[in-house]
Amino acid sequence: MNMKEIMAMAPEAEPARQKYFMELAKASVAKIAEEKGRPLTCFISTFGCQMNARDSEKLLGILQEIGYVEGTDEKSDFVLYNTCTVRENANLKVYGRLGYLNGVKRKNPDMMIALCGCMMQEPQVVEKIKKSYRHVDIIFGTHNIFKLAELIFARLNSKKMVVDIWEGTDAIVEDLPIERKYPFKSGVNIMFGCNNFCSYCIVPYVRGRERSRNPEDIVKEIEGLVADGVVEVMLLGQNVNSYGKTLKDPISFAELLRRVEQIEGLERIRFMTSHPKDLSDELIEVMKDSKKICKHFHLPLQSGSSEILKVMNRRYTKERYLELVDKLRAAVPDIALTTDIIVGFPGETEEDFQETLDVVRKARYDSAFTFIYSKRTGTPAAAMENQVPEDVVKDRFDRLLKEVQDIAAEVILRDEHTVQKVLVEEIDSHEPGFVTGRLSNNTVVHFKGDASLIGKIVEVSLDEAKGFYFMGSLVKEG
Ligand code: 5AD
Ligand code: SF4
Repeated sequence: MNMKEIMAMAPEAEPARQKYFMELAKASVAKIAEEKGRPLTCFISTFGCQMNARDSEKLLGILQEIGYVEGTDEKSDFVLYNTCTVRENANLKVYGRLGYLNGVKRKNPDMMIALCGCMMQEPQVVEKIKKSYRHVDIIFGTHNIFKLAELIFARLNSKKMVVDIWEGTDAIVEDLPIERKYPFKSGVNIMFGCNNFCSYCIVPYVRGRERSRNPEDIVKEIEGLVADGVVEVMLLGQNVNSYGKTLKDPISFAELLRRVEQIEGLERIRFMTSHPKDLSDELIEVMKDSKKICKHFHLPLQSGSSEILKVMNRRYTKERYLELVDKLRAAVPDIALTTDIIVGFPGETEEDFQETLDVVRKARYDSAFTFIYSKRTGTPAAAMENQVPEDVVKDRFDRLLKEVQDIAAEVILRDEHTVQKVLVEEIDSHEPGFVTGRLSNNTVVHFKGDASLIGKIVEVSLDEAKGFYFMGSLVKEG
């Protein structure tokens, strides 16, 4: 068959179309491997959030299906960067790595370099790569990662860079292969995109409008994961609190959690990320009654100043935020709270910053991700004139970090000397003979143990708090 016939034979509907291209790509990869006398290797480098991490598992699933084996570094035959653009430094890192790959590819001209993810949804980025990074083979975006096999097949049959970026889509393609990083825990996408347009944030532009998966598909996926040994799931979305609103038969996030709770064999449920404006009393009720939802809530604050929150288009005030914190703590007394905070948003004054510190002191977070405001082209905040000078931002950032760390070191003492259930995740990377696990509230604990414990939920005595983690000892297995 020639290319024209091959393309004409391709099914229109998904996932059948991708299965067709996976078979074709598999044959091509097998042929190259035979010529080389060794299997072809692939390497994925993931930048950014949990959503990207989950996307990378899907991408690896497809690569393995078509015959690549996972390599250990960027000297592999297929190198893929799954990019993030939420802050500028993530972009700069990608350009740096691409420069390095140019040299690697000169030594291995058959190597393929692919780029995907949020950064690729920005037209000026794609232009720059087309012009200055000609050694890149494939560029795709956030809406069509399921098409990887088709894109690889296209590149193998053409000499040109393959660029396929979609502006947006409603399509959610189910039932493609996934290669999970951990056998015992998994992310599960429940929705894609974001409708909030916080004025600093580029996500709605690169991830598109909010789309929820059907609850039946989500439950089916989790049941499959549990049958495969998963005990903990993390439900993923940019704004999980508005899950289900746009479905044909709308359901709430709280209701979805109730259904997931019913899944036998599933032990722990986490979710990320919540938006305070959509946090319902119903959700708090469900958390209170649940035996499986972890005692951890990530509730991004962004700023403690109601004035700044307004300009950020966050649609809540400092008071409303603190009210939510009180409600959560009243319902689930030992809940761990974490947050995201941006310093140096345009127009932020010292008084505004003091309001942020005030919330940090009142909410007493277990931990907080603190970010220096990064100007993202195309967002409303980027055009604001009153940008804060760099040295002022840096000084505020340092003060915030100190406050956050001091409080976290006190808060963690709440659990010291208690015995808690811990999901063992991996061999400790620092201490030989130790393993690392997580409490329900997401705090990390290291204790003596071996690989046989990985994936099990065990009881651990939290002997000593060390700033933001514990050293413990195993009390009871299983
Ligand atoms: N600058 C700095 N931080 C940002 N975030 C999102 N956009 C920006 C930006 N332009 C942070 C927010 C968000 C987290 C994922 O990244 O705090 O919650
Ligand atoms: Fe960005 Fe706001 Fe959407 Fe979060 S809720 S992804 S910060 S626009």
